[in-house]
Amino acid sequence: MQQQQQDEHEQQVAMELAQHEYESWLNANLRHPNIVQLFTSFTVVLEEHPQQLLLASSAAAAAAGGGAGGLVHEGAGWAGGLSWKTHLVMEFCELGTMQCVLQRGGFMDPLAPGRCNVAWVLSTAKELCAALAYLHSMDVVHGDLKSSNVLLKAAGTSAWDSRGFVAKVSDFGLSRVMDAISAANGTAASSSCGDAAATAAGSPCAGVPLGQSRSQAQHFGALSHAAPELIRGGELSKASDVYSVGVLLWELLTGQVPFYGMHPGQLLNAKLSHPTSQLLPLPETAPPALASLCLACWEEQPGRRPSMQGVIQQLNALALELLGEEAALLAFPDLARQVLAQRRSAAAAAAAAAAGVQ
Ligand SMILES: Nc1ncnc2c1ncn2[C@@H]1O[C@H](COP(=O)(O)OP(=O)(O)O)[C@@H](O)[C@H]1O
Ligand SMILES: [Mg+2]
Repeated sequence: MQQQQQDEHEQQVAMELAQHEYESWLNANLRHPNIVQLFTSFTVVLEEHPQQLLLASSAAAAAAGGGAGGLVHEGAGWAGGLSWKTHLVMEFCELGTMQCVLQRGGFMDPLAPGRCNVAWVLSTAKELCAALAYLHSMDVVHGDLKSSNVLLKAAGTSAWDSRGFVAKVSDFGLSRVMDAISAANGTAASSSCGDAAATAAGSPCAGVPLGQSRSQAQHFGALSHAAPELIRGGELSKASDVYSVGVLLWELLTGQVPFYGMHPGQLLNAKLSHPTSQLLPLPETAPPALASLCLACWEEQPGRRPSMQGVIQQLNALALELLGEEAALLAFPDLARQVLAQRRSAAAAAAAAAAGVQ
């Protein structure tokens, strides 16, 4: 009996530890210019002399972070009398969070009070969506998108991008790999990450909830950015990320804090009884097509929301409409490639038609 209790205890500790290391495992397998890069991570289990081990691990973390010019971020956990600390050494985003820039009115047009700076909003929205489309292409759902989880890294300016920063998605603490096939087969998480840049050796993911196209989340992120189905039934999916992107777009458009002044009970009640379009009014000054995009992301039925690729297509169409073709093509290389491919195929079709006539 005692042995069984001991085994159960060890199993619980192993599972808690695996959960704890899951964020670093996942982040280490992601490579994208709009995702904060994790360089390395390590977990120190604190058994008998927590203070001594803590000090030793902090010194090791400082040494690792200092060499790479990165940031050392810490997280701690506890289970069954054991505790541990995980250190993440990651790319340093020196301009802070998008939330701080929003609060300073950084995305508003200084020449037109109450209006957003459309070029900045589109560039930033496209970067966020590129990161999300990449995650979703790997069957990863972020699960906690909000403006304090978007970090800004200094970058050069150009005639078509005056921001001086690039936006990067961070904080994979609530992220999950979704893959119906791996769930059915009971395969390991590493295979569901596909060729996600050299999968880390020794995946610590055993015992971690994985492998579904929708997942039952036990925890979810900010209530303000959580999709209704996530609040109601813990239903985490790519579509719940798309809902959160809609709230981020609203923040970029209005420069305001969503659901400002509401306490959690009020917010919960409001979100469960009203559509988001009623709770987050879109200003009349907002470009109509951007406002419609927010509404599409907030559809009550997850299946009716656009995919991340769909959101990017709509942002591209908006860039052409709002910035003009020349500026849009210079600002967004992916759009330039797309327009070029369309022109080539139109020219080829015209040439084929002309050859048929002769
Ligand atoms: N790579 C980084 N560069 C700069 N600041 C960071 C970085 N990672 C985290 N931070 C700062 O720490 C805060 C919390 O980090 P985060 O990873 O979101 O952890 P959590 O929200 O789980 O506490 C961020 O909002 C940001 O201010
Ligand atoms: Mg965070």
